Amino acid sequence: MKKEVVMMVGPTAVPGRVLEAMNRKSISHRSKEYCEIHERVREGLKKIFNTKNEVFILTSSGTGAMEAAIQNCFSMGDEVVVPVIGTFSEQFASMAEAYQLKVIRVKFDLGEAAVVDKVMEYVTPNTKGLFVIHNESSTGVMNDLQAFGKALEGRDTLLVTDSVSGAGGIEMKMDEWNIDIVLTGSQKALMVPAGLSFISLSEKAWEATKKSNLPKYYFDLHKARKFQEINQTPNTPAVYNVFAVDEALKMIFEEGLDNVYRRHKENTNRIIEGIRELGYDIFPKDERYASRTLTAVHAPGKAKEIVGALREEGVIVNTGLAPLVEDVFRVGVMGYVFKEDVEIFLEALSRLNVISTAK
Ligand SMILES: Cc1ncc(COP(=O)(O)O)c(C=O)c1O
Repeated sequence: MKKEVVMMVGPTAVPGRVLEAMNRKSISHRSKEYCEIHERVREGLKKIFNTKNEVFILTSSGTGAMEAAIQNCFSMGDEVVVPVIGTFSEQFASMAEAYQLKVIRVKFDLGEAAVVDKVMEYVTPNTKGLFVIHNESSTGVMNDLQAFGKALEGRDTLLVTDSVSGAGGIEMKMDEWNIDIVLTGSQKALMVPAGLSFISLSEKAWEATKKSNLPKYYFDLHKARKFQEINQTPNTPAVYNVFAVDEALKMIFEEGLDNVYRRHKENTNRIIEGIRELGYDIFPKDERYASRTLTAVHAPGKAKEIVGALREEGVIVNTGLAPLVEDVFRVGVMGYVFKEDVEIFLEALSRLNVISTAK
């Protein structure tokens, strides 16, 4: 059988070593053995987030951590500003509205990154939170988190970031960039099946939790903080996923975090170069903001057909998300994707006979 190359935007390819780490006997989440693994994982995640703050392990997909951020740090009627650059930033805005926050959306055209100065025009002393997506998976655009962190320096507003498709694949410097909440999921650059999410709060964010009046139970982070002291979680975690993330983090640190980032960058740079040679272009309007964990390729009217044809060639990529489903396909390099996989993808793309009409 032909080798299948998985270059999805998430869930991503799970390395054999990580699968193997899950192939073991069940243990109690209150056992000493579990606590040791939990401790290693939380320490490893701190390195991924580049933070001294605690990182909590939640049993949910990334969306659960987004809910946890809102439930724990905000109250009904709080004003928050959300730059909307695609599906997932819009999801954060809608979620905040579902919790009855007052959401001010600052909308950008699809394919654009959020412009810091424009967003800051909407941030006032009343703004309790600024929700900035790190890497918008629907359009393949990265935001400049560092610049947002700088712009918020000395203000009370919390900088909240969804790095579900960023952390572990592109640099995250939570403390240095002045970010108050970072959250991510297990099934992207961290190379683990879906089922865990991770969240970290700055001291400022912990202060905000004291004022929050939103209902919370499963994702009550004060409870999680108590259990974290003994390297446990309040409820049963997805223990097998914790085994998996333990192994995946070992792999990341063996390769070296900087090398992992470099590999993601080189792979996306090669994809951008390769698709251009074939007559396509990237969807992001400014290449400087093009994601380095996935590439959104512009293929007007042809995206679905291309994804189907690549599947026949053994290369699994994703279509765009509404409203880009016909016009954009997305190629992930998150996690366990190497140079050879990128070349297989480009060769397969070059063989498709839809190319000539795709421009
Ligand atoms: C940037 C971003 N945020 C949030 C999510 C939602 O995460 P999940 O599907 O793990 O709940 C995704 C999923 O693809 C994402 O890419």
